[in-house]
Amino acid sequence: MNSNLSDYPELTANIKEIVLPADAIQKRVSELGTAISHDYAGKNPLLVGVLKGVLFFMADLLRSVKIPVAVDFIAISSYSPESRNQGIVHLAKDLETPLVNRHVLFVEDVIDTGLTLNYLLRNLRARQPASLEVCVLFNKPEHRLIDIPLKYKGFDLPDRFVVGYGLDYQENYRNLPFVGLLRPQAFIE
Ligand code: IMP
Ligand code: MG
Repeated sequence: MNSNLSDYPELTANIKEIVLPADAIQKRVSELGTAISHDYAGKNPLLVGVLKGVLFFMADLLRSVKIPVAVDFIAISSYSPESRNQGIVHLAKDLETPLVNRHVLFVEDVIDTGLTLNYLLRNLRARQPASLEVCVLFNKPEHRLIDIPLKYKGFDLPDRFVVGYGLDYQENYRNLPFVGLLRPQAFIE
């Protein structure tokens, strides 16, 4: 995909810098899909994503997986900033698929502290899947509080707040095909 800032004048007025161009993201996602197709051949895995940030990653990843695969989503909301800091989230929408004896691959857009992911993995593990692994596109290792094994990882990112390719700031910017840094004036106090 050949896209740059000038294709999105209104959205990108607030973008300071592109951190990952669209073609680099597409290439890496396709490599992850190839690895998953190889590792899960014959296992009919279930890919589980958390709405809404994973929307674009999941869609592109699924299209590059070349084996039979099922998909399902959960949605979460925090009770409060305090509970969020403890990684406690509310399941606003649960899975429709039973996990018992399924090979489950948890697909996540970004992992920062790991608190959210850790909470969700504990919840899914209790449903007794045959296996449970993690595929994350953007890894921000600097603030990690909980060590979580990542079977598949797209990119390591520095500890900067980024938007695009599903990642939002106050629900905007998800539709950018690249990942970028916001200008300071884009942050609303
Ligand atoms: P954590 O791993 O529990 O700290 O939380 C990760 C969540 O914080 C993600 O699911 C995103 O919703 C959000 N997040 C973390 N870093 C960023 C970023 O750089 N841009 C947008 N959202 C982010
Ligand atoms: Mg968000």
